[in-house]
Amino acid sequence: MALLDNKVAIVSGAAQGLGEAFTRRLAAEGATVVAFDTQASVESLFSGESNIHALRADVSKREDVERVVAAAAALGGVHILVNNAGRWKKSPVTDSWDKALADWDEIMDTNLKGVMLLSRACVPLIRAAGGGDIVNISTYYVLPARSDGTNPPDTDLYAASKWALNGFTDAWAKYLAKDNIRVNGLCMGATDTPMLRGLFADGQLPPEMAKTVMSAEAIAGLMIELFRDGRTGENIGAWVGSPVTLGPRKAAHERISG
Ligand SMILES: NC(=O)c1ccc[n+]([C@@H]2O[C@H](COP(=O)([O-])OP(=O)(O)OC[C@H]3O[C@@H](n4cnc5c(N)ncnc54)[C@H](O)[C@@H]3O)[C@@H](O)[C@H]2O)c1
Repeated sequence: MALLDNKVAIVSGAAQGLGEAFTRRLAAEGATVVAFDTQASVESLFSGESNIHALRADVSKREDVERVVAAAAALGGVHILVNNAGRWKKSPVTDSWDKALADWDEIMDTNLKGVMLLSRACVPLIRAAGGGDIVNISTYYVLPARSDGTNPPDTDLYAASKWALNGFTDAWAKYLAKDNIRVNGLCMGATDTPMLRGLFADGQLPPEMAKTVMSAEAIAGLMIELFRDGRTGENIGAWVGSPVTLGPRKAAHERISG
């Protein structure tokens, strides 16, 4: 029997990058996956995969979220939620008010409001299923810097959205423990996805980065390791140049802040 046989998982932002890798790995472990994205390509990407149900939906829109969760309910409920959809962009504090407000809406609607909407819609079903896992996809920006190159100063709104996720991860892990629902964050550094490649004009990673960048498949493997481990309330770091592995459980005061 596979690890996730008879489980239903939802993955947001599944049309490419980490979301695609999470979806494929969850399905390979036996789960039925409801995978959605604002991009229509999500439907053709998974069209031949019998245990992946792909939908076009926007995580920041309540009616879309309800449609996604209803699709999962029809497949047997919800056991795993991966809050992966995210927007990254530069938003230096010197930007115009107009740009800052437009960036705020774009980033916060997906990275924060979307996580709130989808999680609130899923929690009753995960409870009804007897428990499960919520994974908030964050970033190493929220963990102590390991080098001078981390935590860029011009992505304040993106960083703020991911710091705010810490509040969800910590509060939900504590509140939902009685329902056997585990809530953790995955906080990785540079991972080879279209988002990362989009930072470079030709879409090619610089040679030094290409040598060391983590793969989305390695991060998906870390998520499966997390499910096997069963810990909760922890931000799990993954750093370029270090082994991608769960490591020992952290003391309570270090679970979120690293
Ligand atoms: N790639 C990295 O180096 C890296 C590092 C740290 C954290 N992350 C985080 O990992 C997650 C995935 O990143 P990625 O690198 O795969 O990005 P990506 O841009 O390659 O993929 C993100 C996907 O989310 C979808 N999406 C965006 N807004 C959406 C919405 N409102 N509703 C539904 N889908 C939506 C996009 O269409 C896209 O397919 C993000 O939360 C990101 O912040 C990535």
